[in-house]
Amino acid sequence: MTAARAPRPAAAPDRDQVRKTAVRLLSSSSRNSYDPDLDIDWDAPVELDMKFMPLERTSLYGTKLWDRMTEEQRYELSRQELASVASTGLWFEIILIQMLARWAYHQDPQDPRTQYALAEIGDETRHVLMFAKAIARLGTPTYRPPNLVHQLARLYKATARGPALFAPVLVAEEITDRLQRETVNDETVHPLVRMVSRIHIVEEARHVRFAREEVARQMANLGFVGKIVTNLSSAIVASFVASSLISRDVYAAVGLDPDEATKAARSNPNWHESRRWMAEKIMGFLDEQGMLTWYTRPIYELAHLI
Ligand SMILES: [Fe+2]
Ligand SMILES: [Fe+2]
Repeated sequence: MTAARAPRPAAAPDRDQVRKTAVRLLSSSSRNSYDPDLDIDWDAPVELDMKFMPLERTSLYGTKLWDRMTEEQRYELSRQELASVASTGLWFEIILIQMLARWAYHQDPQDPRTQYALAEIGDETRHVLMFAKAIARLGTPTYRPPNLVHQLARLYKATARGPALFAPVLVAEEITDRLQRETVNDETVHPLVRMVSRIHIVEEARHVRFAREEVARQMANLGFVGKIVTNLSSAIVASFVASSLISRDVYAAVGLDPDEATKAARSNPNWHESRRWMAEKIMGFLDEQGMLTWYTRPIYELAHLI
């Protein structure tokens, strides 16, 4: 086990710097936002004999089970897994909407940071609608995280504050962002999925910027105990979210045995590698902030985020 080896973070932004960023992000939001209802052609036909995400990023790619699957089943798995990622993203966006509203309740509404949080609630509301509509259009169910995770999330969204509020959000946003960036560039992926991803990437870039500055500012002001609580709770929440990305129900939808497929996915080095790749950038940032420590690294490793 290596000891904590976080590089010293660059000087943390102060409240005024984050305010300046918030002003800039607010102006970018008003100039460059989408209305998914109008900007997406929802009436275009959805052909099923296409990929819905890059096949090599699916949870079974590279396994013996994958070798036995027909091409049709592989495409179908990409459709169901994409729906599962979108469902988990949507679920976490609803959590974020509630947390941002709870945070804004305590802030001065004249502060640009508060105003940006409110603008972000608007973005996320449109994203939830967009993902819900996309899942419906793909003809897939809304996948839900396991009941235990659903219940634990109720506690998290009611109590999280400071960096423990923003850091797991960043992990959720940045891992899906990396997958979406690859999806947008893959011309063999279904155009509806690529359009939804494109809209999400543009708006998420602002959320990531804001949350990264808030995490850096707030981490610099935390005491010893506060840091331990924050680091631990962030690692646990982020790992639960990452582990909920692919529901085990997707396998039955593809005609596979859920037990066999879940086991194959859990021990699939290719899927582990994909998860580490999705988390690479955000884990670098958490390391800079001193959030990857001897007691949080094993949690992230267990979730294959590092
Ligand atoms: Fe979003
Ligand atoms: Fe977001």
